[in-house]
Amino acid sequence: MNLRFLNVPAALFGLSALMGANAASAQDLAPTFYADALPVFQKNCVACHQPNGPKVGGITAPMSLMDYDQARIWAPMIKNALLTGYMPPWGAHERHRGEFKGERYIDKKEKDLLLAWVDAGALEGNPADAARADGLLASAGGNVLPKSGWWIGDPDLIVQFERPVKVPDQVEDWQPSIQMQVPEGAHTEPKWVAKAELDPGGPWVHHIVSSHMGVGVPGRGPFEYPKGWGVLMPEDPFITVDMHYHKTPGEGTAIEDMTRAGFKFYENGDVIDHVVETNLLPHRGWTIPPGDPNFKVTSEHQIDEDIFLLSMGPHMHYRGKAMRYDLEYPDGEMETLLWVPDYDFNWQFLYEYKEPKFIPAGSTLHMSWWFDNSESNRFNPDPTVAVEYGPATTDEMANARIYYAPTTPQHIVVGEEIPADILARARHDEQTRRERSNTLDLSKDDVDWLNESQKMIEDGH
Ligand code: HEC
Repeated sequence: MNLRFLNVPAALFGLSALMGANAASAQDLAPTFYADALPVFQKNCVACHQPNGPKVGGITAPMSLMDYDQARIWAPMIKNALLTGYMPPWGAHERHRGEFKGERYIDKKEKDLLLAWVDAGALEGNPADAARADGLLASAGGNVLPKSGWWIGDPDLIVQFERPVKVPDQVEDWQPSIQMQVPEGAHTEPKWVAKAELDPGGPWVHHIVSSHMGVGVPGRGPFEYPKGWGVLMPEDPFITVDMHYHKTPGEGTAIEDMTRAGFKFYENGDVIDHVVETNLLPHRGWTIPPGDPNFKVTSEHQIDEDIFLLSMGPHMHYRGKAMRYDLEYPDGEMETLLWVPDYDFNWQFLYEYKEPKFIPAGSTLHMSWWFDNSESNRFNPDPTVAVEYGPATTDEMANARIYYAPTTPQHIVVGEEIPADILARARHDEQTRRERSNTLDLSKDDVDWLNESQKMIEDGH
């Protein structure tokens, strides 16, 4: 009896002493925001997750990860985003590490540290430790927008919508194609584009695909061609952007967007050796059966002259699941140029080589696209229908855009006469774009399109 009575407090004492010891050592060892998490956020996340949102080519991330209170509130979401690989956003498989500009991979060690920080209760720690982290941010550099408001410096040409585009209350996602107006007299002769930048009107701009400068996604800086590479923008250019607006729908959430684009041109005396060409490489003529969770299509493209490949931009819609570019060299050797194992329509990346890649004449590019038309794809607009190639986001696409140039240097001196064939081709491309475009009519009532699409839904389409 006595023993039992004695034992209880002894056991309790022992337990609490143990807990006390554990708590103390856990506190010493547990990662804290200022000492551990912040430097990792700064290296991997704050390019986008900073106060006032980034003016780095796109959407504002929902919170600043430089701020302890916000980071703590978002801690469970942070864990989830890291575990699923949703953050930091990037599509190319880890095996491509080091190949593409602007890649976003988080080191395993850093990821584990953030997970440990969340699991240990997202502790604050000592703000004095942040001094170290501030140093890191400063040395990482490039997060402060220059005074001009443009990363590329003062643009030589700024274009924008004719008037602000209204995105009504009811809208959650909307993807209009919109023309950018060139101010009267601002671009009366052909010029070589060296750099370009998109300046979205606000955080509701989820991404932009532009006719002249590739893709704008959050955290992506300006677009810059390698030195000596350029695109000829003829006089009277037809510049369009495919916008993706994304916001919470509801009363009072309507916004107006005025997105701009800025261009820097090569200067007289600069030399253009590589005139950038592009090919959408669309693949049509297939039907995805209803409910199919893993539908694959493939196509091929012959490379018949030596080229340098500059970049690749896979494009599918909401059923897009994965995409791969494989190269078959003339001797039969195979190389995977790009593997996007978990394609996400909401993040349209352009994979741009750090060093343009040499591809010999006689090679074959093999493209593969995978689609998930099942109901377990949470983005699937309708798993009960068969889907074909088409422009609406409820249709699908299998595109594999490439940007490239022939390897033979052109040696075009800017300011001297532009070779006639190159000028003719640039004008022709511009004209084709103008004819084929289906841009939003800004002179019409803005809600027409909405009424139409609502009617479609009500009619059961
Ligand atoms: C390229 C810019 C960018 C980078 C880098 C980035 N994020 Fe994000 N993040 C965003 C944007 C934009 C959103 C909002 C879009 C969304 O929720 O889909 C977001 C959303 C989130 C969310 C909310 C997710 C949800 O499900 O609502 C979390 C959590 C997050 N980011 C954590 C991180 C962490 C942690 C890092 C670094 C390891 C990081 N992000 C890096 C841009 C970025």
